[in-house]
Amino acid sequence: MTKDAIKAGRLLRAPENFLDPVVAQEITANGLSEERRGFLRKSFLAASAAMASGVTFAQGGVSGDGDPNILNLPEHSTTLGQAVATNGYGVPSKYETNLLRRESPGLTRVSAASVSFAPLQGLFGIITPSGLHFERHHQGWHDIDPSKHRFMINGLVKNPKVYTMDDLMRLPSVSRMHFIECGANTAMEWGNVAVPTVQYSHGMLSCCEFTGVPLSVLLEDCGYDKKNGKFILAEGADGSSMTRTISMDRALDDVIVAWGMNGEMLRPENGYPLRLVVPGVQGVSWVKWLRRIEVGDKEYGTKDEAIHYIDSMPDGMYRQYTSIQECKSVITTPSAGQMLLDKGFYNITGLAWSGRGKIKRVDVSVDGGRNWRTARLEGPVNTKCLTRFNINWVWDGSPVVLQSRAIDETGYVQPKINELRAVRGTRSIYHNNAIQSWKVSESGEVSNVQVY
Ligand code: MTE
Repeated sequence: MTKDAIKAGRLLRAPENFLDPVVAQEITANGLSEERRGFLRKSFLAASAAMASGVTFAQGGVSGDGDPNILNLPEHSTTLGQAVATNGYGVPSKYETNLLRRESPGLTRVSAASVSFAPLQGLFGIITPSGLHFERHHQGWHDIDPSKHRFMINGLVKNPKVYTMDDLMRLPSVSRMHFIECGANTAMEWGNVAVPTVQYSHGMLSCCEFTGVPLSVLLEDCGYDKKNGKFILAEGADGSSMTRTISMDRALDDVIVAWGMNGEMLRPENGYPLRLVVPGVQGVSWVKWLRRIEVGDKEYGTKDEAIHYIDSMPDGMYRQYTSIQECKSVITTPSAGQMLLDKGFYNITGLAWSGRGKIKRVDVSVDGGRNWRTARLEGPVNTKCLTRFNINWVWDGSPVVLQSRAIDETGYVQPKINELRAVRGTRSIYHNNAIQSWKVSESGEVSNVQVY
């Protein structure tokens, strides 16, 4: 290793993996190798200093000398590949079969009224692939015939109207990237550490480019009552009677009646052919299979806002209509369930978001919150959208606690779990936006911990 070169550490990802299983097993079986033990403090310091000016990496784990994967031409270099359009609609590589949205065993009694979590630990950038978007259904999902789907606007409007999908898709449309987070994301961590990986702790979160017509255009089209129309009620076409009140101010601001997701039609699980997109607001208001909007003069107090999706407070009272998803972030790699196999360089990466606007800054700590360094925000930094952050880190093999702390453009700082518990108690379900801690032990194992 040259004086300024940093050895790039190897990471055992979970559940997907890019390391040759034999190499990974060898490293884990031997524990920290001699070479790794010999990673002197001196060269560690030199390496840390080198990072400030620019990083040079020492040779990785596998040497090119004698490597059959370099020396022998593989079959794919010497034979004819498959024909175009073999898959009329492309699918992921057969080597990516571990990267799946997953249901948490035992979380709910019926899978149709349940949730599947997005595999945040295996995603790059900010866009969630459509097939990995998390799901939350109260009464299962259906693949609805778009030619028969109807969308109605009624209530305090001059001209109540029923639109077909074709009617809607001929109107002026917008495409915007936004995150959607279920209000119950990270719910299980209110009292104690409860789940093993970031997929289960933070995976009720996704981010897509949504396309549709601004709700304001449709409300104008129906001549909504500008004096008395203070709220709207959005209703879904599934059997769950999912209905949510939204204030008229918000409805006219940036709400979209959407049919598109990541450049294609919505997937059936996510509301095909029509869903409401309510940027910055908890997922339950993003009504799927949207069939009706009623304009009214007061909050409707339906079951999904009067007795569900309410915040329990320490005094035994409940808070209704907490809609905004406050500023939050999480490190996705390294994260619990993964394993660091070497000392050396790691790119700490994660996601930050705020329902109130753009992310201004993300700080990262490797010592449980005592010291913080500012991470790089990778563009684009959009409003009410996931923002990717990265920061260089050299692991010296000692136990550490990794944390990220996001700050949004309003100046709001993501709280510590004990700060949140002081005002919300420990028995809440919704709106846990606390700083997440991942412990890296000496063996390199990463686990979920709570640090106060
Ligand atoms: N809309 C209908 N009609 N039925 C539902 O069960 N679930 C809500 C919301 N919209 C739901 C719905 C909840 S609680 C969430 S978090 C989001 O949809 C989840 O959206 P997704 O399944 O596309 O991730």
